[in-house]
Amino acid sequence: MIAFPDFAGQTALVTGAASGIGRAVARGLARGGADLVLADLDGARLSEAVAEVGALGTGQARGFELDVTDSARCDEAVAHAAAAGRGRLDILVHSAGIGVERSCLDTTDAEWKRIIDTDLTGSFYINRAAGRVMAEAGYGRIVNLSSTAGVAGGTGRAAYGAAKGGVIMLSRVLAVELATAGVTVNALAPGAIETELVARMHSDTTRKVYRRSIPADRYGTPEEVAAAALFLASREAGYINGHVLAVDGGFLAAGVMHKD
Ligand code: NAI
Repeated sequence: MIAFPDFAGQTALVTGAASGIGRAVARGLARGGADLVLADLDGARLSEAVAEVGALGTGQARGFELDVTDSARCDEAVAHAAAAGRGRLDILVHSAGIGVERSCLDTTDAEWKRIIDTDLTGSFYINRAAGRVMAEAGYGRIVNLSSTAGVAGGTGRAAYGAAKGGVIMLSRVLAVELATAGVTVNALAPGAIETELVARMHSDTTRKVYRRSIPADRYGTPEEVAAAALFLASREAGYINGHVLAVDGGFLAAGVMHKD
């Protein structure tokens, strides 16, 4: 069990909170005492998550149905969270995202657009909305979910990798622009994490190939990614800005590896 940073008195918005990494982050923020707005496209699972997460902490948990490809709705989600925080939104953890495993040459226009709209443009909308409120208040922590696919080239990741690479650069630019406003913006680059996204995206062959390339020789857990997100979201991480933190069992560090 990890020790949770103290988020008492803080308000946090978590996107993609109905499932996987976002849900694990929401649990951690709740245990740290934050007031939470959980946002997700999937209304039914969102209600379930709000009930679960709300029972864990001392703060309040609210749900907000959100499609991050809708710019106006992203503004509303941030306004809703800020209203809950009496004008302040202290933390945004942006985990909403989708993936597809498709070679570049086989990627259709529609697939490309769907992934870029959700993973990159959605990140821009929600980061811009949160950044405005945080800059005004003079405090904020933004943690974006990128991916090792946004750092290293890999087969089948043309749209997804391009979007996640874009999330890293978006995070860096915003980090630099808001640095004097008390706002930090960092990105996580998880490797293979056992969630529903991976269950959909990784074939048996992909799993074998991945395992061979991971020094830890296993997939990670949502809680292991959440631990890194909670650290970057904490008050104590105020001098860490524009960073990309890999949570990948050593995947990005590895070169040649002898394995049985
Ligand atoms: P997941 O599929 O378990 O959860 C993603 C959540 O995002 C779902 O609840 C889904 O309803 C929501 N969502 C999808 N499209 C949305 C939209 N347009 N608006 C609002 N919500 C939307 O996925 P997981 O694994 O928890 O992924 C979370 C983030 O971490 C994603 O950005 C993903 O790309 C990233 N990531 C995941 C990795 C993994 O191995 N699981 C590795 C690297 C990055």
